[in-house]
Amino acid sequence: LLRELRDLEARYPDLATPDSPTQRVGAPPSEAFAAVVHHQPMLSLANAFSEEELDAWHRRLTNILGEVPIAFVCELKIDGAAVSLIYEGGRFARGATRGDGRRGEDVTPNLRTVRSLPLRLRTAQPPPLAEVRAEVFLTRAVLEAINRERAMREESLFANPRNAAAGSLRQLDPQITAARPLDLFVYGVGAVVGVELRTHGETLAWLRDAGLRTNPHTVLCATLDEVKAYIAEWTARHHDLPYETDGVVIKVDALSQQAELGATSTAPRWALAYKFPAEQATTRVRDIRVYMGRTGALTPTAHLEPVGVSGVTVTSATMHNEDEVRRKDVRIGDWVIVQRAGEVIPEVVRVLTDRR
Ligand code: IVH
Repeated sequence: LLRELRDLEARYPDLATPDSPTQRVGAPPSEAFAAVVHHQPMLSLANAFSEEELDAWHRRLTNILGEVPIAFVCELKIDGAAVSLIYEGGRFARGATRGDGRRGEDVTPNLRTVRSLPLRLRTAQPPPLAEVRAEVFLTRAVLEAINRERAMREESLFANPRNAAAGSLRQLDPQITAARPLDLFVYGVGAVVGVELRTHGETLAWLRDAGLRTNPHTVLCATLDEVKAYIAEWTARHHDLPYETDGVVIKVDALSQQAELGATSTAPRWALAYKFPAEQATTRVRDIRVYMGRTGALTPTAHLEPVGVSGVTVTSATMHNEDEVRRKDVRIGDWVIVQRAGEVIPEVVRVLTDRR
């Protein structure tokens, strides 16, 4: 629906309102943190959900670049929160959330608690300025532990790793952030002064050599078929990783080709996020119980016959609220489809009424 809305607004710009969901690039900076203007805007990524959409993207690249070889770097799309890290003269000077893409929030004290973030770059000749882009995340194990604790204190649970990472970064008290072992992978740069780079692969190598943590499962692909093989491999394997990923990011390797392709107002044309499909499974509802949180909010929850979904044994699923239970008409004994779409807490998608 979001995509359809985006298409409609492109065709009829007069109908696009400032509060349209398409304008919600990120959360606006909160009052509590100082605003930081990114040297280069932090764009988002265009999505693809099928091989046809990947082929269409490749055709668009060829239309612009002509019949020249195009190499790609394939990376995992880490499910966390985007940050910008500013190194001045090799020293970590400032770190900010993405915010609305142009202006984020200064979360430097919280980022300093991230152990895998070097406070000094390990280079003989540190550049005067390096704006590094990274994804901050919590491992599945840490997230589960945090949620177990929150459940014990009857606090609301983090529904997904993204919320947990963003919430931890935006803690006003860095002590609380420090108690949540955040981790990060760097995946690119914004403005960099004084370093000669020709490809994205070289950028990643430079970041790694400077002591920044890059993801080890990154591959240079000479052809689109190699890209497809990488996608197939990680669609099957991504559940085995200790952190959540929600797809593969494909980037044109040559920076000269990236420059030629340019960007729209929201996303670069030289990169694409290929999303993993949401994982679903069929099981049976043993019971429906209603849980009350600390604030008094009631959450109906389906207790299920255990079933494996994306590498996790699921025994319960949320039905969010009473309206949702009525709308989906979920009853004890029903066969249901449950899904995890990057969410830690699975949800009931629908009832198989013909098996009732
Ligand atoms: S590149 C201009 N690479 O995905 C290109 N992003 O939907 C900017 N993300 O805001 C993004 N892993 O928070 C890139 N390997 C990766 C990524 C990645 C996770 C996040 C990032 C970005 C969002 C875009």
